[in-house]
Amino acid sequence: MQKKETFYITTPIYYPSDKLHIGHTYCTVATDAMARYKRMQGFDVMFLTGTDEHGLKIEERAKAAGITPKEYVDNIVSGILDLWKLMNISNDRFVRTTDDYHVESVQKIFKKLYEQGDIYKGTYKGKYCTPCESFWTESQLVDGKCPDCGREVIDAEEEAYFFKLSAYEDRIKKLYAEHPDFLEPASRRNEMLKNFIEPGLEDTCVSRTSFTWGIPVDFDTGHVVYVWVDALSNYITALGYLNERYDDYDKYWPAQVQFVGKEIVRFHSILWPAMLMALDLPLPGKIFGHGWLLLEGGKMSKSKGNVVDPVVLAERYGVDALRYFLLREFPFGSDGVFSNELLITRINSDLANDLGNLVSRTVSMVNKYLEGGKLTADRVHEPVDDELIEMASTLRNRYEEHMEHYAFQSALMDVMAVISRSNKYIDETMPWALGKDPDKAARLATVLYNLIETIRITGSLLTPFMPDTAAKIRAMLGASEAEMGWEAAGTFGVLKPGTAITRGDALFPRLDMAKELEALADKTGHGAAPSDKPKAEENKAAEKTPEGIITIEDFGKVSFKVAEIIACEPVAKSDKLLRLELDDGSGNPRQVVSGIAQWYTPADLVGKKIVVVANLKPAKLRGTLSQGMILAADLNGEARVLFVDPSVPNGSKVR
Ligand code: MSP
Repeated sequence: MQKKETFYITTPIYYPSDKLHIGHTYCTVATDAMARYKRMQGFDVMFLTGTDEHGLKIEERAKAAGITPKEYVDNIVSGILDLWKLMNISNDRFVRTTDDYHVESVQKIFKKLYEQGDIYKGTYKGKYCTPCESFWTESQLVDGKCPDCGREVIDAEEEAYFFKLSAYEDRIKKLYAEHPDFLEPASRRNEMLKNFIEPGLEDTCVSRTSFTWGIPVDFDTGHVVYVWVDALSNYITALGYLNERYDDYDKYWPAQVQFVGKEIVRFHSILWPAMLMALDLPLPGKIFGHGWLLLEGGKMSKSKGNVVDPVVLAERYGVDALRYFLLREFPFGSDGVFSNELLITRINSDLANDLGNLVSRTVSMVNKYLEGGKLTADRVHEPVDDELIEMASTLRNRYEEHMEHYAFQSALMDVMAVISRSNKYIDETMPWALGKDPDKAARLATVLYNLIETIRITGSLLTPFMPDTAAKIRAMLGASEAEMGWEAAGTFGVLKPGTAITRGDALFPRLDMAKELEALADKTGHGAAPSDKPKAEENKAAEKTPEGIITIEDFGKVSFKVAEIIACEPVAKSDKLLRLELDDGSGNPRQVVSGIAQWYTPADLVGKKIVVVANLKPAKLRGTLSQGMILAADLNGEARVLFVDPSVPNGSKVR
């Protein structure tokens, strides 16, 4: 058998905090999706995560709790393992920096660097941020405070070991010049170059004497290894570098990619490559610095008391819905603002409406119209099939291109575009009408086959993001693993005639926004809907508002967005209604039915920009789903659509 190509991917190792929040989950879910995608492609994947358990903070917390630091971290780490299990994280290994083999390797690394002169003993005088466990030079402080967390720093002086980072400045500069993609996105690379590398690298203090909860420097008692040297080493100690516990360092190192949050890019893109250079080891292919999930008002943090609990959300909406939301809603390299409302909107629009509907409608039609729910070999092709088949057959290539650039959002948008197109195809081909005409049986079988095939392809490509949902789809489709594997995802027409399609439970039930916001506000204290305000307060506001006048809060409930009309056609059997397809910037076409056919033809509208009420409860008009309404002026009973200047981007909010 041919040796499989390896792919090694890592998350940062997490500080044992008793509540990992949605931000931590984001990073791990992204790594998991990437690992699953690479496994699907046939790579021999090593996916590592773990916990970073040393440092003053842990020592202090354990003391306050009246237990040893090890007891303290043991309690917490088991909760972290439970969270990853709940989130369906498929890590191949889990490293704890308190594991014996890691401790042994770090001591050897430290000693090796000392013996070869890359680490030397000196006196440290500087500014220290206790919460971040970071030393800073005067010039790095921002307004005299820690540049990472903005908190007070203290003067610190101690005998310490230093790592000769300055000796690696030229090589680091060369690395950045010769491998511009070593650190991505480019904005982070520019930041590192400008703020740290170009001003010059200074030697870094790599030991502490002020606390004991760390890996002891074995040749100088009283010193413990600086947490970042300890922590960064995990990526190689967990493969067996300088220890006997594992022996696949040669197989997997260097990592293809290491995902890290933006605030720890500096350690990973300067100190880490310099350490590896000093150890004469190859460098990872890429450090990718992803953005933060924020809440309105700033970063989530336990100390601010504003964390969003992934367990609450996963238990309420399902792990797959949460995984999907995290990677579809926010571009991976940038910050995103989390809200419960966004989560519920996304689940409803993409998962319940688009994906869920497509699967349930198709599967039930196959069972209704094809004998025994079995696909047949009958084929009557019509031109309306072409676009769908073309989109589905080429989807894997577009998806791969995005995934190779860690553009999870774009990959998912492309998958969803095919799913939306399939729903439109159902409206266009009207299988229920074909079902009434015995002469159209072969055409009906073709339409249903095309739909099942797009479900198979999209379901396959959703596997890395929603493994359980993909498995449910596979079961309904009666497809083998290979038929929903990577190879087959690139081909249209894989399922064989005779394959039996079976009904399953609804994949994603539709959620009631108001009810969910209320329930979440109760559980998390975040994201309360306007209607969650205490009733008395609401009533008071109502008393003061004259009839016919709404408050700014009432107005704020309506979401107006600029959208472009990308397609338009009359609604069958109606001389008043037009079906509009809108690009509202969300990546998914939005369908709106509007009663303007008497005054506008499709040609008047396609390509124009309008304002859509985006959060109107969807309704069916003449059997056609309408997701919102467009704004028009009333001119003595005639409608005049309000067109928007073409320079306004799709999706812009109208306030
Ligand atoms: N222990 C260090 C990493 C050492 S790696 C050798 C650490 N741990 S952490 O628990 O604080 O953070 C782990 C990861 O979670 C980091 O990449 C961090 O950026 C990420 N996140 C923590 N909060 C986050 C958000 N609100 N949003 C996105 N990611 C965030 O740093």
